[in-house]
Amino acid sequence: MTNTTVTLQIHRFTPRAERERDRARGGSPFAKKSSPFGDSGAASARRRPRGKQWVQEYVVAASADDSVLDLLLTIKRTMDPTLAFRYSCGHGMCGSDAVAINGTPNLLCTAMVKDWAKPAEAAASVDDEGFRATGVAAAGSDDAVVSVSPVADADGSLGVIELAALPGFPVQRDLIADIDPMLDQIRKLKPYLQADGVLATTSEGKIDVFEYLQHPEQLAQYETLTNCIACGVCEGLCPVYAGGDAFIGPAALIWASRFVNDSRDERTAERLEAIDTADGVAACQSVRACTRQCPRGIDVGEEMWQIVAKVRER
Ligand code: SF4
Ligand code: FES
Repeated sequence: MTNTTVTLQIHRFTPRAERERDRARGGSPFAKKSSPFGDSGAASARRRPRGKQWVQEYVVAASADDSVLDLLLTIKRTMDPTLAFRYSCGHGMCGSDAVAINGTPNLLCTAMVKDWAKPAEAAASVDDEGFRATGVAAAGSDDAVVSVSPVADADGSLGVIELAALPGFPVQRDLIADIDPMLDQIRKLKPYLQADGVLATTSEGKIDVFEYLQHPEQLAQYETLTNCIACGVCEGLCPVYAGGDAFIGPAALIWASRFVNDSRDERTAERLEAIDTADGVAACQSVRACTRQCPRGIDVGEEMWQIVAKVRER
């Protein structure tokens, strides 16, 4: 049993119940919710979650080598079963647990206490109303990378870690953000191999398998990009993305780039055309904040630059 602790400051959110929202709108629950301006209502509702927000502190037994996900699981199992967060694989492969850690988007399961706990006095103070008195370092800024704090103070505290839902997306509950806008943008760009061909058959007339040969150099053109797990960390860091309305976002462009660079894919022209739009590559401001925290080692900013160049060279 460890005798050191970490204080988690968690930005919590409970959405207002559906019926309460209807009453607050003053309308009948049976009323049509679509707007006369063409908005289906669903998207805008998703972007404007209403509900109760507050910051809650938990002091958890922890060691410097624990992951932040370990601490949340301890809270969930032993202190507060109402705390909501999302995870699945637990080792950086599924991308389901991206949140803002000390203001910087990252994965809960790969973020270690020793890398993120900061001394209590350095943590932003929280006033009685539950509002933070000072700002967390802007996502992607150097200030957002906290110093290592592996040594406990006299009280056994390893420090404070602040958690909030992934920025750039509507919050669903506590640390769970609605990443559907990103997945919709990725889907729109057809993230699958499009290659024409004729099915080969064996001498007995049975369907044979397709084989698309590729040199190792051709594979190297896109192999790293296949590592993208659609976690949304790059979108959370991007100051332009903010919900995907004005910019389809770096993750969608990474998926487009993955197939543009694949020698087997035969829709390069259509793919480049699809991202040559006002909300496509034209919206990228080359801030390159997207590069900083990709958990899969993709140099997102450089890939953005490459795909912008390809669109312009057409
Ligand atoms: S490019 Fe990296 S940061 Fe962006 S969604 Fe893919 S894995 Fe996550
Ligand atoms: S839980 Fe799967 S990436 Fe963290």
